[in-house]
Amino acid sequence: MQGEYKIIDHAYDVVVVGAGGAGLRGTLGMAAENLKTACITKVFPTRSHTVAAQGGVGAALNNMQDGDNWKFHMYDTIKGSDWLGDQDAIEYMCRNAIPAVIELEHMGVPFSRTDEGTIYQRPFGGHTIDFGKSMAKRACAAADRTGHAILHTLYQQCLKHQAEFFIEYFALDLIMEDGVCRGVIAWNLTDGTIHRFSAKMVVLATGGYGRAYFSCTSAHICTGDGNAMVLRAGIPLQDMEFIQFHPTGIYGSGCLITEGARGEGGYLTNSEGERFMERYAPVAKDLASRDVVSRAMTIEINEGRGVGAEKDHIYLHLEHLDPAVLHERLPGISETAKIFAGVDVTKDPIPVLPTVHYNMGGIPTNFHAEVISPTKEDPEHVVPGLMAIGEAACVSVHGANRLGTNSLLDLVVFGRAAALRAAEVVDRRREAKPFHSDIGKESLARFDKLRFANGSKRTSEIRLNLQKTMQKHCAVFRTEDLLSKGTQLVEDILGDLNDIQISDRSLIWNSDLIEALELQNLAPQAHVTIHSALNRKESRGAHAREDYPNRDDQNWMKHTVSHQDKTNVNFSYRPVHMYTLTSDVEVVPPQKRVY
Ligand code: FUM
Repeated sequence: MQGEYKIIDHAYDVVVVGAGGAGLRGTLGMAAENLKTACITKVFPTRSHTVAAQGGVGAALNNMQDGDNWKFHMYDTIKGSDWLGDQDAIEYMCRNAIPAVIELEHMGVPFSRTDEGTIYQRPFGGHTIDFGKSMAKRACAAADRTGHAILHTLYQQCLKHQAEFFIEYFALDLIMEDGVCRGVIAWNLTDGTIHRFSAKMVVLATGGYGRAYFSCTSAHICTGDGNAMVLRAGIPLQDMEFIQFHPTGIYGSGCLITEGARGEGGYLTNSEGERFMERYAPVAKDLASRDVVSRAMTIEINEGRGVGAEKDHIYLHLEHLDPAVLHERLPGISETAKIFAGVDVTKDPIPVLPTVHYNMGGIPTNFHAEVISPTKEDPEHVVPGLMAIGEAACVSVHGANRLGTNSLLDLVVFGRAAALRAAEVVDRRREAKPFHSDIGKESLARFDKLRFANGSKRTSEIRLNLQKTMQKHCAVFRTEDLLSKGTQLVEDILGDLNDIQISDRSLIWNSDLIEALELQNLAPQAHVTIHSALNRKESRGAHAREDYPNRDDQNWMKHTVSHQDKTNVNFSYRPVHMYTLTSDVEVVPPQKRVY
């Protein structure tokens, strides 16, 4: 070890890592259950990526009196998942969506309102009434800033319940002993001290890893730090091949234009001015699910019907909408389009392109948010002391493709579920076992080695190479050839990490070191993702193999469980849960997926 470190120890009942929607809902719930709770976060809570969520949170409130109910929501979610979602967890989420949204309203989330004063709901992709017959109005919206409204409200509630926050702390690793999670080790970015948090329960709410790609709607902080901590602890990840491309990222910058824009009546056209979605999805059209719309757009571009000088994007039209609707319901994206595309949405279409938006895969959990590390004997084996929630987790309610609005829903439903479970299993009276002095030593050695790294390659250079490789080799359409070349390139990049150059050795707000740590987290996830995509020889949801164009339920209706061992990825599988929680709810058998 070249550096000297001041180590500070803490003890809590629960430590939540991450302060986005899931982390804050979890933290709030744990604190409200009288568990001594700390939340560690690398950015100020209200800067977490949930703040960028736009269009709405899904719940079949039926406020628009379209006959919606939660069983339609459940059916749509299973169909959207292309039958890879676990039906018990989907039932739990859709049933609990209604009280979860009402609870948010009561906490103070400033939802938009109907004339009657109830929560305003808009249509969203893949959400239907009567099992696909017509579109539902299910997305509960606060204009097009729903995530912002929810995140701020949850943070206020956490403060009200006296949760403790460790803000601008970078979590380095889980502290594991004999297969049990005992805590977390973290670096305080402000004063350079190292902190070991002992906890009876650690909850990872660290979000997705969108930044493994060149063009994504994710914030720069979205580096999947929790997923990487799990891999380093020898726990597998699940369904990592399923990467969601959102149809409408702004061409060039990737900034999100909410699907709510199409929910309010926006539509897509190609270079011939054709509303091409009518050909691909005759009923849902522009509001088919995201994988379907992203593929259709990509086909239009590949077949020469893209717009612009290089015919490499698509137009999203809002200019026919009433300016009052744009002002009231879509003010955020109107501003974003102006800033990032120079477009006045009342006059011109927005140039858009499918852009990486969400990771369906992540840390395997059950619907109580407990982390699963499957064994041969027990595919549901729980890792004691460890939970995961939000985009970091794979419950799996989204399966092979998530429906819009189900992410905000997942955050609040499973954040709450984690708190309910922790209240049952965490023994408040037991003293936390003190750490022996060596605990966390390996993690600190990794940190120290990186801090003093003296190689020849800059973090930004290696990261760009990784992002461009993933963008090209593991995109909307995939083939054996593209993917196998991609795995080799990603493996070379893993090698490059041993030749990294850090120029700032300080411990205080060392962004050079932070970005290198984030890259050390991103690269293994990209590695597992591209290997899993190469391994799955079928097309399902967001995983579209041109060489295996059909869904293959006989061989592939199963979750990929990927174990990483240095530069190898090994696979095992978990069965999809084709059962429900309550006898009044029927399993939805696999069907052909058309919109
Ligand atoms: O389009 C959107 O507003 C995104 C919503 C989501 O990903 O759930």
